[in-house]
Amino acid sequence: MMPPKPPSRPNKVSLWQYAKLFRQDILSAQPARLYRAWMAEFRTPFFRSYLLNQPDLVKTVLKDRPDDFPKSSRISEGLRPLLGNSVFLTNGEVWKRQRRIIDPAFEGGRLRDIFPAMWQASEAAVARLDTQIGTEVEIEAMTSHAAADVIFRTLFSIPIENKTAARVFSRFRDYQRSQPLLNIAALIPLPRWMPRFFKRDTKETAAEIRALIRQLTTDRMAEIKAGTAPDDLATKIMTTTDPQTGERFSTDEMVDQVAIFFLAGHETSASALSWTIYLMALYPDWQDKVAQEASVLENDDFSVVSKLKLSRNIFREALRLYPPVPMMVREATCPEQFRDRDIAKGSQLVVSPWHLHRQDRLWDNPDGFDPMRWQTENGKKCQREAYIPFSAGARVCPGAGFAMVEGPLILSMLLRHFRFERIDGRDPVPVAHLTVRSDKGIWLKVVRRN
Ligand code: HEM
Repeated sequence: MMPPKPPSRPNKVSLWQYAKLFRQDILSAQPARLYRAWMAEFRTPFFRSYLLNQPDLVKTVLKDRPDDFPKSSRISEGLRPLLGNSVFLTNGEVWKRQRRIIDPAFEGGRLRDIFPAMWQASEAAVARLDTQIGTEVEIEAMTSHAAADVIFRTLFSIPIENKTAARVFSRFRDYQRSQPLLNIAALIPLPRWMPRFFKRDTKETAAEIRALIRQLTTDRMAEIKAGTAPDDLATKIMTTTDPQTGERFSTDEMVDQVAIFFLAGHETSASALSWTIYLMALYPDWQDKVAQEASVLENDDFSVVSKLKLSRNIFREALRLYPPVPMMVREATCPEQFRDRDIAKGSQLVVSPWHLHRQDRLWDNPDGFDPMRWQTENGKKCQREAYIPFSAGARVCPGAGFAMVEGPLILSMLLRHFRFERIDGRDPVPVAHLTVRSDKGIWLKVVRRN
């Protein structure tokens, strides 16, 4: 069985239509040719955008010459009120320094240390869902709750029930709802001088979230000084010194970073998990196999992670079909030639996991759900060259290892206890918000597994 997919993709659309379609149905509404093209050009009165859908071009931009293709400022503006000067938005030397301090917190050994906190969050997710047996459940809300819980437990050693954590979580949902579609900003022809207006409540919500985070980081700084801080990700990041300058993050800088950890760490994982669970409902045989494998989940010993092989392959396949970050936008800082075309300085370069992961000319059965593909020659080659759910190169997601432990763990834990069933007529349509979400929620029936 293939994931439900409307029968035809249009052949040609205008840029405006394209931006609109992306919001309506990212999967099927776009022209079929975009999934076959190596590169596509969009013209606007003020600049040009290029969708790069060829592995060596993507490699040039992300891996070989990242300094020549910084993050486009066109996409960062919408996030600025919440994220300030966080690592997600900065470029150049400021960004390099931030990564030198952040990266050690996510190294392999640290994942082992924070694994018990992930385990507890997974058990809490099972306990919450257990109260909804037999009902139709909105899965995105459930996975958002679980992923936010993971972030608070691993970062600050507090569960989502903590008053401040719960408030950040709920205000964040309001912020997300009031946000325009950010990635599309790179394709929409607004000149740079045109001011971008934020709704007043968007700014107020961002300010409130930041005040709450400031409280958490100020308290933590005090605990670090008193020698009473727990050994979690926040303490690790706040006590790590930049090997080049010997400096640490100030409390202010840490507020920016915590804001992005929360956003990047829970939005993306929640999106990925919700689509994975939807795929499980579409393919019950695979769901049963994961449930069987999950019998290895006995206690929170980190070694169990390596035993969740099928769960990992399924999560990986879900990340291919529904990459939470559908597009990344970079800017050309000097003239380039790509595929014999002149790319002017200032052009927007769109690297799209969404299109690359379904590139017709590269993948066998590109739209099909096949968790075993990773063992095939084609799957292995494409994984190396055309699979970038976490981006690639210097700006690769620092949380990739974290997410590849968290996702399969929560998936296995849930499937060990429950079966998820598709509801006729309520299949979700993927749309691009901050991450790939569904148009009206992902509704599935939850049944207890014997
Ligand atoms: C399935 C889960 C996740 C996916 C698919 C994902 C994907 C990505 C992608 C594609 C980027 C690059 C964005 C761009 O260049 O525009 C990114 C950046 C980032 N991610 Fe993740 N991410 C996930 C989970 C996490 C987690 C759990 C954390 C932290 C706990 C995290 C923290 C970050 C940060 C800080 C950045 C900015 C890095 C930089 O610009 O240098 N992510 N992520």
